[in-house]
Amino acid sequence: MAPFQPSVDQLVDLNQKSLFISALAIAFNPLFWNIVARQEYHNKVLTKLFGGHSQTACYALAATIFSLGLLRDGLYERALRDQPSYPLLETLEAKYLAYALLAVGNILVVTSTWALGITGTFLGDYFGILMDDVVTGFPFNVTDAPMYHGSTCSFLGAAILYGKPAGFLLTGWVYIVYKIALGYENPFTAGIYAKRDRERAAAEGNDKKSR
Ligand SMILES: *[C@@H]1O[C@H](CO)[C@@H](O)[C@H](O)[C@H]1NC(C)=O
Repeated sequence: MAPFQPSVDQLVDLNQKSLFISALAIAFNPLFWNIVARQEYHNKVLTKLFGGHSQTACYALAATIFSLGLLRDGLYERALRDQPSYPLLETLEAKYLAYALLAVGNILVVTSTWALGITGTFLGDYFGILMDDVVTGFPFNVTDAPMYHGSTCSFLGAAILYGKPAGFLLTGWVYIVYKIALGYENPFTAGIYAKRDRERAAAEGNDKKSR
């Protein structure tokens, strides 16, 4: 083996359990919120749990998802610490790139939460708490899924900041998991809004008739 050609096991240590725990946490979170949100939509599970208060139930889900996100981030950080470093990632340029990615990622996540509000960000649609209009301003005019893409950006930034190639592997996993989640969520929420629009149109039709 050439001296500067690191083998795969020098880049990623597959013997670290923390790597797989982090991968599990990454996949678990969207799985969790999709299962719970669909249960809410079809059976009003959370609203019933909170005595019929869907707004409160949505806030509770938001707090749970947020906490699970913090746990996932902590597990990712631990996984990175257990992994080998790569010298090229320990340069000053790499650090600047990492901070830029972390900044972009956090800006996308924070501004999209700001634009949508808590219930708009955390699956309010499934609770029947719908947005009046589609949000089209920043950050939704630069990416259709700023929450997911911002989060992916932050994972990549952290991988570079820690100088761990294993972070690229986990970031790729984040990307795949979110892509699957979007493919599952987007048509469903589009359906929720299409239904609302049909009901609105029907109600307007009735208004005209009764006038
Ligand atoms: C996105 O919208 C913001 C205003 O919300 C605007 O300032 C910005 O220029 C827009 N960006 C693009 C790429 O259209």
